[in-house]
Amino acid sequence: MEQERFTLLKTNAEVQSRIREMAAEISRDYAGIPEENPLLVLCTLRGAVFFSADLIRGLTVPCEINFLKVQSYAGTRPAGSPIFELGERIDVRGRDVLVVEDIVDTGQTMDTVMRNFSDKGAKSIRIATMLDKPSRRYAHLKETVIPDYIGFSIPDLFVVGWGLDYNEEYRMLPDIMVYHPDAE
Ligand code: IMP
Repeated sequence: MEQERFTLLKTNAEVQSRIREMAAEISRDYAGIPEENPLLVLCTLRGAVFFSADLIRGLTVPCEINFLKVQSYAGTRPAGSPIFELGERIDVRGRDVLVVEDIVDTGQTMDTVMRNFSDKGAKSIRIATMLDKPSRRYAHLKETVIPDYIGFSIPDLFVVGWGLDYNEEYRMLPDIMVYHPDAE
């Protein structure tokens, strides 16, 4: 039987409703954070832009927004060590940092980011991810890369839509779809 190239994993409505819950949870956890030292929300480019736009609009605590550039995938396979660039002028020293990621897979990217911020003196570092693939985590990162806020935990599938791409395609799909590159 012919395999479909895209199969539905999460509808747009399901994702939006889950993001509202996550925003409420994050707002509760950071309640009381001072206006003078607001939560530093760092959105990873480019995949997490869609997710973070909705997540941030749901936050009710003082926050400042900035971006991180991280790239680690080529096609459906990790391309090796993540390339990681922090926008110059972002000083994480003494800051409560919330990294917003589209998907945590092997954990390499978040490990690199967390180490970097910890070395730079961040006061706290948490991760909010739309999707998590725990079964794909590198063994040595299983105990250390555990996202604090997870939209959906999913099996080992390659997914696109809601900002996630396959070689820069399909980011704009409104639902989260499983992508089968070899399907006819
Ligand atoms: P990690 O460093 O292996 O955890 O990979 C994280 C990055 O890989 C994410 O930010 C995505 O850009 C990319 N990635 C991992 N799995 C998928 C997927 O299923 N679809 C699209 N991109 C993915």
